[in-house]
Amino acid sequence: MLRIGIIGCGKITQVRHAPEYAENPECRLTAFYDFLPERAQDMVKLYGGQAYDSVDALLNSGVDAVSVCVANADHAAVSIKALQKGMHVLCEKPMATTLADCKAMARAAEDANRTLMLGHNQRLAKAHVEARRRVAAGEIGRVISFRTTFGHSGPEGWTGQKNSWFFDKSRAAFGALADLGIHKTDLLHYLLGEPIVAVKADFRTLDKKYPDGSPIGVDDNAFCIYRTQSGATGQMHVSWTFYGEEDNSTVLYGTKGILHCYADPTYSLIIEHFNGETERIALDEMTSNKKQTTGGRVSTGVIDSFVHSVRTGEPSLCDAREALKAMRVIFAAERSALENRDIQIEQ
Ligand SMILES: NC(=O)c1ccc[n+]([C@@H]2O[C@H](COP(=O)([O-])OP(=O)(O)OC[C@H]3O[C@@H](n4cnc5c(N)ncnc54)[C@H](O)[C@@H]3O)[C@@H](O)[C@H]2O)c1
Repeated sequence: MLRIGIIGCGKITQVRHAPEYAENPECRLTAFYDFLPERAQDMVKLYGGQAYDSVDALLNSGVDAVSVCVANADHAAVSIKALQKGMHVLCEKPMATTLADCKAMARAAEDANRTLMLGHNQRLAKAHVEARRRVAAGEIGRVISFRTTFGHSGPEGWTGQKNSWFFDKSRAAFGALADLGIHKTDLLHYLLGEPIVAVKADFRTLDKKYPDGSPIGVDDNAFCIYRTQSGATGQMHVSWTFYGEEDNSTVLYGTKGILHCYADPTYSLIIEHFNGETERIALDEMTSNKKQTTGGRVSTGVIDSFVHSVRTGEPSLCDAREALKAMRVIFAAERSALENRDIQIEQ
């Protein structure tokens, strides 16, 4: 039975990590830590275990693995410390706030020979899993172009805080570009089975403000044009200013067909084959800020994947190498926007 600690007991811990560990019979929640002690105490009341008063105290409590669910700027330091102490780590996205920190995390996992998984849950959405299989089987031919979108009304609709660290450049580093863009960038790698090698990007704070009316410290919209190794070219738009329904859709345009993921409210996967047949498949509903379960299941599968990887040594949903590959694209997008030019991505 794995002993699990959680560092950072905010929203993602409350709605995903803690309940999903509690549902998994192979592990037990034993330790919690948060800057705000009452948050760790609340988790203890719900799930048992003990609250600790520092990261070190939690890591010395005999845990086998930890979830790192703190603000982005602390992902690297906390994860590396845990790996060096011999714990397996499930870290939330985005991996870290500098490329050097992302590389250091990957190195620490390798040196310690421990699992480091990143919480890229879009890889588990059923329509994405099926789309990847269909693309690999050549059902839509060669992918020529694509577009992917992830937009919602912003983190204040998620955490309930109008002034959160998500808006603070020193704590978050990026706005929508990395908060949402890392999901979609990684998803493109996952669906297309090849890396993005070049990017042209722009990101801006178009609308979002602090309660005092001043603009937030990070971008609320990012626009990227990506080119893959085989030459497929397409766009990613991520946004914190879609104030109505969330958009989490992806469309791949191939030589033999077009594949739509989460672009239709009923059919999560639609495949238009150019032979005249159109498949409409209702697989699941995408998780959203308001709804965290997929297809009526309690679990998104993220925690199950991590626990399985730790127990068996099999690859996890998204290991450090895959996460680093996607983060390189995000940092390149930032550079592209700042320098107003195409950036080739180091592979
Ligand atoms: N996979 C996803 O889809 C997804 C969704 C939402 C958030 N996240 C990620 O999860 C992480 C947490 O986000 P959240 O929505 O839970 O935010 P949140 O603000 O609700 O919670 C963060 C918690 O961590 C605590 N904290 C921050 N830094 C800390 C530190 N160094 N040590 C101890 N406690 C610390 C805060 O007090 C707070 O309770 C972020 O990196 C975010 O990007 C991922």
